[in-house]
Amino acid sequence: MCGIVAGIAQRNVVPILLEGLKRLEYRGYDSAGLAVVSQGEIFRKRELGKVKGLEALIAADPIEGNIGIAHTRWATHGKPSTRNAHPHVSRDKVAVVHNGIIENHDHLRTALQQNGFEFTSETDTEVIVHKIAEDLQTADSLLNAVKATVATLQGAYALGVVFIDCPDTLIACRKGSPLVIGVGIGEYFIASDIAALLPVTQRFIFLEDGDIAELKIDSLVIYDENDHRVERPIVESQLKADSVDKGKYRHYMLKEIYEQAWAVSETLEGRFIDNRLQDNAFGHNAAEVFDQIKSVQILACGTSYHSGLVARYWFEKLARVPCSIEVASEFRYRNPVISPDTLVVTISQSGETADTLAALLEAKRLGVKHSLVICNAPESSLVRESDLVMMTRAGPEIGVASTKAFTTQLVALLMLIIAVGRRFALTKETEEKIVSELFSLPGNIEKVLKLDNAIELLSQRFADKHNALFLGRGTHYPIAMEGALKLKEISYIHAEAYPAGELKHGPLALIDAEMPVVTVAPNNNLLEKLKSNIQEVSARGGQLIVFMDEELAESSDENVQIVKMPSVANIISPIVYTIPLQLLSYHVAVLKGTDVDQPRNLAKSVTVE
Ligand code: G6P
Repeated sequence: MCGIVAGIAQRNVVPILLEGLKRLEYRGYDSAGLAVVSQGEIFRKRELGKVKGLEALIAADPIEGNIGIAHTRWATHGKPSTRNAHPHVSRDKVAVVHNGIIENHDHLRTALQQNGFEFTSETDTEVIVHKIAEDLQTADSLLNAVKATVATLQGAYALGVVFIDCPDTLIACRKGSPLVIGVGIGEYFIASDIAALLPVTQRFIFLEDGDIAELKIDSLVIYDENDHRVERPIVESQLKADSVDKGKYRHYMLKEIYEQAWAVSETLEGRFIDNRLQDNAFGHNAAEVFDQIKSVQILACGTSYHSGLVARYWFEKLARVPCSIEVASEFRYRNPVISPDTLVVTISQSGETADTLAALLEAKRLGVKHSLVICNAPESSLVRESDLVMMTRAGPEIGVASTKAFTTQLVALLMLIIAVGRRFALTKETEEKIVSELFSLPGNIEKVLKLDNAIELLSQRFADKHNALFLGRGTHYPIAMEGALKLKEISYIHAEAYPAGELKHGPLALIDAEMPVVTVAPNNNLLEKLKSNIQEVSARGGQLIVFMDEELAESSDENVQIVKMPSVANIISPIVYTIPLQLLSYHVAVLKGTDVDQPRNLAKSVTVE
């Protein structure tokens, strides 16, 4: 993972790079560093922890320069430490920032050590900078030295490179890790994500895999993976620099939870004519593709995987569409049997998750003809690699724990179920019901958000707990999984989800007063069975928190705390019941004093395996 930002300009780039790094912290925050080339020297500052530490270091002992590279790290090779922080430097001449993993770093390191290069870190990145320094001994330019170096690298990388003997040149390249060029007036920047550069430009060039770019103040030259000079289009972004502000909220996560009614409306916007979903909402040739497919295979990671799990229930129950789902990192190495007329659906907030991307490429390699991505990041790698696209329009999601991306993914999936399901067994009546329920969602989400204070009170029950169980059945089992994931991600409480029917096959042994049990119990055909499961817990002294339809809600007692949810149709209840679980984990994390938006050891966008 990690975030890269770099620039070449007529002004001092240090404040721009620092601001860019803050906007990239979602990619990792184990350490931060920055280097400039100035007066024939490299000036470098590095600090363990977040960008604010680096900022303080630079404020106390300023550095300035018109060309610089900067990095925020999510540790892979080598623990978080200052010496493992980027930029890495070779012989005081070359400096590099890197996002990705170099798989053959051991082999390269041995060869470079034999040639006299001294390593000062445990990172895979350091081989790159020494290799460039070595290649500079024979290459006639920094560009050609970097070309020679990357030809020896196996793995994934996005790089920013500077060299004291070429203070007018910044080299950028990417393979398997994202990198974008920001085009300013008389200045160029590079970054892992456009968000880093929005304060300085809204014009971007998205480098393609294998591209190497040479950036100078007044020129930009790009070579593709076959070393041909290429022109890449400049894309005007609609995003604004302040679209990633916290506004009145204490944390991004809370802001993003509260944005969900709006995000859902945005995701539905313009995709229906006279209440009928348009196939072309998924791309101009979507109808043709949907006509051909015989089944669906969903691939995703993390929270996005949970939305796919809900969709499997929907696909099969509502429309009799055969649907499988697998965690992308498993699928990619399993050599699965998959038929060419399967629609591979990837789901990803960032569109850059390395495992999901690799799983899609693997499905294509296995002969799958049609792919669709549900994604929140336009121009991301998954969007570019997929035939059909459904953008969730949740806006930038900054909190590492995904919230509005998840609920909008579910909305997008329901639309997909309509579009594909029509070709299978989805009835017109069910289609109309789904559409009307989808449009009722923003109002229902607003109602649930009104439970915030009550949920904040309940969160106190978790403050001294170390474990929690989440129970659900049917479409609400993945919602329980998502609730457990949220709690563990940001409050560091160990939480597990179970399909409530499995309780008696093991987890019941864990039940005591120290194990809160959160249950999502909407009014559906499984409610009576779920109530029996609740009794099983209560009878053993377990402490239950049950989210239940207000029309059925029973009263709370000593062991069972009931939270009354607005009465909603089955079809949308997984989306509605997600919200109190998000709020619960948020408030528990605040009580525990954790770093809600940037929980330890995690990152928002996982662009490494
Ligand atoms: C990371 C994030 C999760 C996210 C997962 C998949 O683990 O912390 O919030 O669900 O990656 O990311 P994607 O961008 O593919 O949805």
